Amino acid sequence: MKKEEYTVAIVGATGAVGEQMREVLEERQFPVGELILLASERSAGQFLEFQGRQRRVEILHDDCFTNVDIALFSAGGSVSAKFAPAAVSAGAVVIDNTAHFRMAPDIPLVVPEVNANAIAGYKTHGIIANPNCSTIQMVVALKPIHDAAGIKRVVVSTYQSVSGAGRQAMEELSQQVAALFSGRDIEKKKFPHQIAFNCIPHIDVFMDDGYTKEEWKMIHETRKILGEPALAVTATTVRVPVFCGHSESVNVETEKKLTAAEVKALLRDAPGVIVSDEPENNIYPLALDATGKDAIYVGRIREDYSVPNGIQLWVVSDNLRKGAALNAVQIAEILIRDYL
Ligand code: A2P
Repeated sequence: MKKEEYTVAIVGATGAVGEQMREVLEERQFPVGELILLASERSAGQFLEFQGRQRRVEILHDDCFTNVDIALFSAGGSVSAKFAPAAVSAGAVVIDNTAHFRMAPDIPLVVPEVNANAIAGYKTHGIIANPNCSTIQMVVALKPIHDAAGIKRVVVSTYQSVSGAGRQAMEELSQQVAALFSGRDIEKKKFPHQIAFNCIPHIDVFMDDGYTKEEWKMIHETRKILGEPALAVTATTVRVPVFCGHSESVNVETEKKLTAAEVKALLRDAPGVIVSDEPENNIYPLALDATGKDAIYVGRIREDYSVPNGIQLWVVSDNLRKGAALNAVQIAEILIRDYL
């Protein structure tokens, strides 16, 4: 018999994504019976609000998952590696927001607007992976184009906000701006260079071939989610001094010719997408406008005349919501509707 309410755990509840998870669960009226908020010892004794009630943050350990139906993990890859197995053993389904399980062949990597059917694969390991934030917003825009015209190649450059690197990274940007305006020296902790008034083409670690791990994720996760293991994708990922909202310049080459008008029409009908494209009125997607919203905003839609079948897009979304918390909660909604 179907449950009316579910016990949900948030691992990393005090973090930037954890906070959004609480908000999104509440906003979407997810049927939460009990909410278990988990974080490190640093957060011991803290209280966070959910549905008008203050809830105590507990310290994460293996025994926290008794009776948990769904565990939303967003506390870093090493925490997921260590504690997701305990959650699964206790009977929970894990929706993991870290990169740890994403490329495991038998763990589904899901964006509901693109490959919701893949959720069924959770039964093998009890785990569903939530993709990288930059990847999520790009594939939601790519899917209708791929279905209509067959994508041959994607070239993406990102302009990623500091919230993608967590709460401390947001504080680092604030503190650097304040320090610079008051003539003090800046402090660098989360970023290898000054992020205030700068752009840093370096997200996650560098690999031997000169790509960063973030770029690698965008390439390989896009292939896995679209079910196209050989799709040509290349990426340059850049951190910019924006607090929230990732922006992307996405260049797409298709098998079949699509005009800009046809792409606009496809995207207007696409689930989760809002076309914001009125250049004559200075209307195009902006990170500030996307913050706190659920949609993927697409604009600057135009043909790329340098190739026979090319399209250029500007794709913006709130990286903490659709890029993380919202996508995870949407997966949980399908889980309880169709599987649990
Ligand atoms: P805490 O606040 O106790 O450090 P962000 O991505 O915004 O930096 O947030 C990371 C989240 O992951 C926070 O909730 C943080 O808790 C949590 N976290 C980090 N390391 C651990 C750990 N070893 N065990 C449990 N939670 C952790």
